[in-house]
Amino acid sequence: MCGIVGYVGSKQVTPVLINGLKKLEYRGYDSAGVAVMSDSSDEILVKKSKGALKFLVEKITDEVVKTSKDMSDAQAEKRLGELIEKTGTIIKGNVGIGHTRWATHGEPSDLNSHPHTNVSGTIAVVHNGIIENYAKLKAWLQDQGVVFKSQTDTEVIAHLINYFYEKTGEIFKAVLETLHRLEGSYALGVLCTKYPDRLIAARKESPLIVGLGRGENFIASDVPAVLEYTRDVYYLNQNELAVLYNDHVDLFDSDGNKVVREPSHVEWDMASAEKGGYAHFMLKEIHEQPKALTDTLRPRLIFDGDKAKDIQFDEIDFGEDWKQAGRIVITACGTAYHAGVVAKYAFEKFARIPVAVDVASEFRYRNPILNKNDIFIVISQSGETADTLAALRLAKAAGAKVIAITNCVGSTVSREADEVIYTWAGPEIAVASTKAYTTQLMCLYLLAIKLGKERGSLSAQQYSRLLSEIAAIPEKAQQILDNQSEIQKFASQQFNKSKIFYIGRLFDSASSLESALKLKEVSYMHCEAFAAGELKHGPIALVDPDTLVVAIATEPELYEKLASNIVEVKSRGATTMAITLDKKGAFDNCCDSVITIPDSEPALASMLSIIPAQLFAYYCSILRGNDPDKPRNLAKSVTVE
Ligand code: M6R
Repeated sequence: MCGIVGYVGSKQVTPVLINGLKKLEYRGYDSAGVAVMSDSSDEILVKKSKGALKFLVEKITDEVVKTSKDMSDAQAEKRLGELIEKTGTIIKGNVGIGHTRWATHGEPSDLNSHPHTNVSGTIAVVHNGIIENYAKLKAWLQDQGVVFKSQTDTEVIAHLINYFYEKTGEIFKAVLETLHRLEGSYALGVLCTKYPDRLIAARKESPLIVGLGRGENFIASDVPAVLEYTRDVYYLNQNELAVLYNDHVDLFDSDGNKVVREPSHVEWDMASAEKGGYAHFMLKEIHEQPKALTDTLRPRLIFDGDKAKDIQFDEIDFGEDWKQAGRIVITACGTAYHAGVVAKYAFEKFARIPVAVDVASEFRYRNPILNKNDIFIVISQSGETADTLAALRLAKAAGAKVIAITNCVGSTVSREADEVIYTWAGPEIAVASTKAYTTQLMCLYLLAIKLGKERGSLSAQQYSRLLSEIAAIPEKAQQILDNQSEIQKFASQQFNKSKIFYIGRLFDSASSLESALKLKEVSYMHCEAFAAGELKHGPIALVDPDTLVVAIATEPELYEKLASNIVEVKSRGATTMAITLDKKGAFDNCCDSVITIPDSEPALASMLSIIPAQLFAYYCSILRGNDPDKPRNLAKSVTVE
């Protein structure tokens, strides 16, 4: 997720911006930049660089951080601090904006880094979020003669503000007019040379706070960036704007009316501030799922008023290759593989096309059979997993068309695939994947439903109903999170069990795999997943009173069968829980605990039923004294075989 910092005051602004951005590094980024209102000329000074913040500092100071190979990390850190201070003697000014970028539109590069400016460089903008209608706006601006420098969605904002500034002659009005035309999410910081004493900020969906100092004011994506200077902040509300001067801040609603309210006082320490007040990144990321799902879904849904009427993937050519495909082959590792297993059920149900799903480390060594009319999909959060990459290369060498689903723009997978579908989950810091998984599912479901329509296996009515259902998923995810106390309580009763089984049928057997992996990874409890019907073919021999069996139950036609499986383990002493859509009591008699998830189309419920399982894993981890963000023996990105 991008990080934004802005400052208006009497300090040299460049070090304030870079130090603030350093405090936001935990959010993940691939490039950085600053724009400063020059104190000696009527211009905005912009510097930006791909890579870590230290490269930006080196670019500005023209010096290197690590001067000898024997320099210790502590020495290099100290020197970086000195060079950051030095930036203030090179780019001088007291008003500025800074940005760390997590690439969405356009690969990580100097050019695509923020801030972006209008053609004459008199307006500079930093942005966090996704402008969904940027392609349309860009085409319109190009028709007006605007020449774009970057591939970003953000650049349209700078040019649009310029357009309205020329019309209205007033920067605040120009920003307002621009915001009224943006669809999607944004947190913005805007500078204009004609108004050198102020900074304009705005937000919709993406976070932005205003820090209130004495004789100085700040904007930031998150509290840690300003905590060194102030604990008094405004959390900007949806569609609010702020204009910052050194001695005061004005807040406005989306129509430009002044808003007056009291600031909040931050009590957190720095460590919890980085996690947005959550105890761990894993919990924060579990809670980010409604937004991540919305960000992944919305740009691909076409609406008619409030009603979703179609799915559109701008990034892939949904042509004959797809319509004529004989088979889909999906390859991935770990959690991404589990998303592939759910997708098999989705593609087969909605598009009636056979799907083979393979673990990448197996696929690459078994001389796989690939046909000309196969569609090959790799799924990878990081886009750097060694086995997944090897599978991708193998498929390409065999002549298959490779589609990648990844969360990381510019990753190796994204560069080597023929076409890329991004999950807009934002950076995932915790090792255990949560929001990346549900957003992978979202992309795969959208593909399966779209393909179902194109291949004629879904009627217009079915298609339209599925679109309404999928549009409601993020809100339902939020409802589950709002009612998490039951899961927490259940975890507090079960965290000492020696064996846990997840069971389910069809989609739910696929969800069981991911639920079990989450629990293993962060709680270190021994946990297995089985298709419920397989229990009596062996695993039931393990069941005893120290066993917990969790049944995922979102397939109404199979509730009875699943309830019979639960009775079988319960009569052997197991404790039982159901995570279910059922509201009619199908599991009340056989389960010690029933977690009900909001009503939804059963075939889409995998995006919801996983959330209680993620929370259960998280709370068991905490109760067992583990660090859920850094499970033992695991790495976030597995770049070796
Ligand atoms: O970055 P990738 O999606 O390719 O990573 C694949 C697996 O290594 C990853 O999903 C792993 O299983 C996670 N620790 C799951 O939480």
